[in-house]
Amino acid sequence: MIPTKPYAITFVCLGNICRSPLGEGIFKKLVKEAGREAEFHVESAGLGSWHVGEDPDSRSQIVARQHGVILDSTAQQFRARDLERFDLILALDEDIFDGLKRMAGNGPERGKIHLLRETDPQARGNFEVPDPYYGDLNDFESAYQMIERSCRGWLERLPKR
Ligand code: 4NP
Repeated sequence: MIPTKPYAITFVCLGNICRSPLGEGIFKKLVKEAGREAEFHVESAGLGSWHVGEDPDSRSQIVARQHGVILDSTAQQFRARDLERFDLILALDEDIFDGLKRMAGNGPERGKIHLLRETDPQARGNFEVPDPYYGDLNDFESAYQMIERSCRGWLERLPKR
């Protein structure tokens, strides 16, 4: 059998310390549980550069750990060249979605960009994961739940390779 290249997915928020590390960690865990690790390459990034090199926010780590998810990402900035590197680019909110679309212009990569919550059965027309940075642990837990439901949806949507 000819080995296929892993399907490359990235989660993008603003700082890459609160929301998108949860996306990366949760998706990796679901992929592992499904025995589909060989099919995927998973990363996360931020549109901003302020937190590059940092570990995930301790509140994201606490909430993730409560659900058995370990976050091991290091913050990195999303760059224009990443538009080519990934097959699926998942924006955590509408501002990020717009920023990514601007970056892609009318290029062929535009179609790879989606809102993460497109697959959240409880989205009810609201496709944002609100930024919990200035919130408390409840806001991080709420973000966790939205991201987990969405990740489950994406994993189901992506055909087995
Ligand atoms: P994130 O949260 O985009 O979910 O990582 C934020 C973290 C830091 C900042 C904004 C959002 N900040 O402005 O520093």
